[in-house]
Order: sequence, then structure tokens, then C-alpha cells
Amino acid sequence: MTISFEGKVAIVTGAGNGLGRQHALELARRGAKVVVNDLGGAVDGSGGSSKAAEAVVAEIRAFGGTAIANGGSVSDKAGAKSMVDDAVKHFGTVHILINNAGILRDKSFSNMTFDDFEAVINVHLLGAVYVTKYCWEIMKEQKYGRILMTTSGSGLFGNFGQTNYSAAKLGMVGFMNTLRLEGAKHNVYTNSLAPAALTRMTENLLPGEVAQGLAPELVTPGALFMVSDQAPNGVIIQAQGGSFGVAAILQNDKVSLGDHPTVEDVAANWERISDLSKVGTRTEKLVSQPPKK
Ligand code: NAI
Repeated sequence: MTISFEGKVAIVTGAGNGLGRQHALELARRGAKVVVNDLGGAVDGSGGSSKAAEAVVAEIRAFGGTAIANGGSVSDKAGAKSMVDDAVKHFGTVHILINNAGILRDKSFSNMTFDDFEAVINVHLLGAVYVTKYCWEIMKEQKYGRILMTTSGSGLFGNFGQTNYSAAKLGMVGFMNTLRLEGAKHNVYTNSLAPAALTRMTENLLPGEVAQGLAPELVTPGALFMVSDQAPNGVIIQAQGGSFGVAAILQNDKVSLGDHPTVEDVAANWERISDLSKVGTRTEKLVSQPPKK
């Protein structure tokens, strides 16, 4: 069965390069009308122009697709609003939002300034909050919305030199976890994508042999499934080089230490308390299933 996005209006943030560009192109190829947003700055977030977004719009129009460019910044509330306003003004509404825009300010925590920390939180986490907020009521009212957060293995598992980025990226998962509950009855589903791909953001981070085979377009099928009619709700998909899996936050059954547990009791029972070996069946329950049609 072909998965079509005919009749759908999508916003993809940071779609002038890398992963976002691929998501926007494929959504448009499959019939969506796309707002291609990109601030057009450098990897560290400096500078900006709408040229990157306009180039992707030109590519989409060249194959007969429908798209408009938006050069706003997700980390600026007026910029975030302008993307949603553009979608409504040109295409009538918004059904799909892919929060993809991102920057890096990598440094060990010892060397990281508050400015580096705040800049990364502002783009990834607050940027996603702003654009999602401006879409939220529209999606709820029309009883259809698909939102994707772009998280990262760095947030899920950590990565040296990326405290700011890890915090922002796992913050997006926390944001998703509650949006999925608040949106479910309105048919507004929120998921997360943890990608790995060779882009300008990672060209200096991924070793040559790892980078091979990590074309960003090999991530896009996972991203698009997560914003399709058949998407689950509240799931983290991992995607790289054409391989797909899920990640989940696990918990085990708590060990009761009686009415007056002491620190020593916790220490004495630590092996049982921290035993994650039996969480397999619970994990399945933690991963939401697609709703029954
Ligand atoms: P990229 O640098 O090629 O693309 C990011 C785009 O976001 C750029 O075009 C940039 O201009 C845009 N952008 C930055 N700040 C913006 C703002 N304030 N408003 C609007 N647009 C803005 O990088 P890539 O790799 O395609 O990254 C896309 C997303 O995937 C990011 O959120 C990144 O953190 C995430 N990611 C990427 C991984 C990878 O292996 N490439 C791994 C894990 C996560």
C-alpha cells in the first residue's frame, strides 16, 4: 500500500539542508504541500538568510511539487508563528510538523558558557515548543495532527562534549511524552526520531568509515512513517543508513523495602533494585501501539 501525503500540509523546520531537506522533498513527492523553513545560518547558529529554504522550494517545484519558503527562526516566537501563519495563509491549515531545526555548540562542560547552553536549548527545545504551540490548537480543532521531534542518541545515551545538546534533545522526548497524552483523543500524535546521518552537522564528528552509508535520505522513510496516518503515538524511532528500531525509557518492578526503609536497606538490596533483566515484557507495553482503525 502506498503511503500518500496528498491533501496534507506540512511544516519542516531547518529544511534547507541535511535531514530536513530530505524530509521536505519526500513529503512533497508524496503529495504534501510543504512549508520549507530554514534560518540559513551556520552549524553554530550564526548568520542567516532565506536562500537555503528557497533552494529546496525550487527543487520541489522543479518536480511539480508544492512548497513555499520561510526564513524565520524557530527560536524566535515571531519566527515560529510566521511558519504556521504561512501554512495557513497559503495552504489553509497545518497537519504535519517536523521539528528538525538544529545547531551545535560542542564543548566539554568545563568549557561551556551559559550562552552556548542557552543557544542550543533555545533552538532545539524551545524552538520545538514555539512552533508546536502555534500548531497545536489548529491540529486539535481539525482532529488531525502529526508532530515529530528530532531527538538524538546524544540525548538518549549521552555524548562527550554535548551536555547542552543532550539536555535539549532529551527535553524534546519529555515534551513528546506529555503531548502524546494530551493530543491522543484529538487524533494529534507526537513521536520522536533519533537519526544518524552524514550532514554538514556531523561531517566533522563521524569517522569516515562510519559516515559511509549514512546518507540522510536513508533516515527519511522512518521520519515520514512517524507523521503518516498510520503513525503510532509517543514512540522514539531510531533510524540510520536504512536500519530502523525503537528506543524506550525502561522501568522495572519496584522492590518493597517495608514501611521504614533505611539507606542501608537500599544499599543492601541494590542488586535487585537496579535489575533491569526482566523488563522485556513491560517494554512492549511502554511503546504505544498504533490506534485501532
Ligand atoms: P544540518 O545542519 O544539515 O541541518 C539543520 C538545519 O537547521 C540547517 O539548515 C540550519 O540552517 C537550520 N536551523 C538552525 N537553526 C535554525 C533556527 N533557529 N530556525 C530555523 N532553522 C534553523 O543538520 P542535520 O544533521 O540535518 O540535523 C537535522 C536535525 O537532526 C537536527 O535537529 C539535529 O540535531 C538532528 N540530528 C542529526 C543527527 C545526524 O547524525 N545528522 C544525529 C542526531 C540528531
